[in-house]
Amino acid sequence: MDIIDIEEKYTSGVYAKQPIAFVRGQGARLWDDKGIEYLDCSSGHGVANLGHAHPKVATAIAHQAAQLITLFETFPNDQRAALMEKLTALTPGLERVFFCNSGTESMEAAIKFARLSTGRTGMIAAMRGFHGRTMGALSATWNKRYREPFAPLIPGFDHVPFNNIEALEKAITAETAAVILEPVQGEGGVYPAQPEYLHAAADLCRQRGALLIMDEVQTGFGRTGRMFAYQHFNITPDLLCCSKSLAGGVPMGAVLIGENVKNLTPGVHGSTFGGNPLSCAAALAALSVLEEENLPEQAAEKGAYLMEKLGVIQSPLIREVRGLGLMIGIELKQKVAPYLKTLQEKHIIALNAGMTVIRLLPPLVISYEQLDQVAAALNEILTAEPIGA
Ligand SMILES: Cc1ncc(COP(=O)(O)O)c(C=O)c1O
Repeated sequence: MDIIDIEEKYTSGVYAKQPIAFVRGQGARLWDDKGIEYLDCSSGHGVANLGHAHPKVATAIAHQAAQLITLFETFPNDQRAALMEKLTALTPGLERVFFCNSGTESMEAAIKFARLSTGRTGMIAAMRGFHGRTMGALSATWNKRYREPFAPLIPGFDHVPFNNIEALEKAITAETAAVILEPVQGEGGVYPAQPEYLHAAADLCRQRGALLIMDEVQTGFGRTGRMFAYQHFNITPDLLCCSKSLAGGVPMGAVLIGENVKNLTPGVHGSTFGGNPLSCAAALAALSVLEEENLPEQAAEKGAYLMEKLGVIQSPLIREVRGLGLMIGIELKQKVAPYLKTLQEKHIIALNAGMTVIRLLPPLVISYEQLDQVAAALNEILTAEPIGA
C-alpha cells in the first residue's frame, strides 16, 4: 500500500485527507513522494513562516537534541531562560510567560488566568472568531459546526459582532473576566480588526476591570507585517496567546502575561512538555531568523505586492480581496473548494477560510517570482469559466 492508502486505512477520520503525500520541504516549496514540486501558500496552516527546513532551525534542533530534550519547568534551563528574555523583550508591557504546546492550549491557559485574576467567569468573544478545539477554546470559538456536537460547552461565553464597538460596550459587564479577540480573524474569513475597535476594546476592558486576551496564534511572528499584529494598533493586551510559527514548526505555545494578571501561584496551571529545552532552542533560532532576515518587514512588503496583483484581477467571481501582510483572503461569490482543487492541480497549495474565502498564508520567505506565480495562477482560474458553481 502507498502512503495515502495507509493513512486512509488508519486515520481517526477527523481530517478530510488530500490526495498528495508530502515528504520534503524547503523554503516555500514542498515535494511529494513522487518528487513533484509544489508551491506552499498554506505554511502548514500558518506555521512555516520561516519556510520549510530552515537550516538554522534544523541545526538548533539537532544541537539541543544532543544536549537536553526534556525538563519540567520547575527546573530552570538555559534555553528557556533565554527564550523568556527574548519573547518579553519583543512585547513591551508583557513581562511574564507561560509555555505550552499548541494554540488551543495557549487559549485554555489565558481563559483560566483571566478567571483567576478577576474572580469573574464571563467571557466575550467575537462572531466568526476561531480559538481552538479543546473545550475552553471551543467555547470561545464561534462556528456552530465546531461547537454544536460538543454541547454543553463552558457556561459564560457570549459572542458579539466583530468590529462593532456598540455591541462590545453593551456586552462587557461587571461579570466579564475577559474579551477574547483575534487582531485579524483567520479561520473566520480573514477579516482585519479596525484600529478604533481594538482601541475601544482595550479601553473598555481597562475601565470595567476585564482583561483583553489577544489570540495571535495565526497572526503572530511576522505574518501580518509586524512581529505581532496588535503592534499595528498601538495597544497592549493583558494576555497574548501565540503558537504556530513560534518554534519554527516544532510544536509550542505561549501566553505572554501583563501586569494586570494576578494570582498565578504554583500549581494553578501547568504543562508537562511546556517550555521543554528542545522547543525553546528551536524558538530561539526561529526568532533570530525572523529578526536577521527582517521577515516581518518582508511580509508587509510582499503582502502589499501580492494584494496589488490580486486587486487587479478582473473576475466577476471575486467579492473582495482583504488582509494584512502575508495573511490574505480572496472572498468569492461561490464556494472555493473547486478552486482550491484546481490550484492544487497547478501545484499550488492554498487554504480555505469558511466556504467562500481562499486564504493565502505563504511562508514569509516566499520570493517575488513565486508570488507572481501564485497571482498568475489565481488570475487564470478566476477569469476562466466558473467551476463547480
Ligand atoms: C487564531 C487561532 N487560535 C487558535 C488556534 C488553535 O491552534 P491549535 O490548532 O494549535 O490548537 C488556531 C488554529 O488554527 C487559530 O488560527
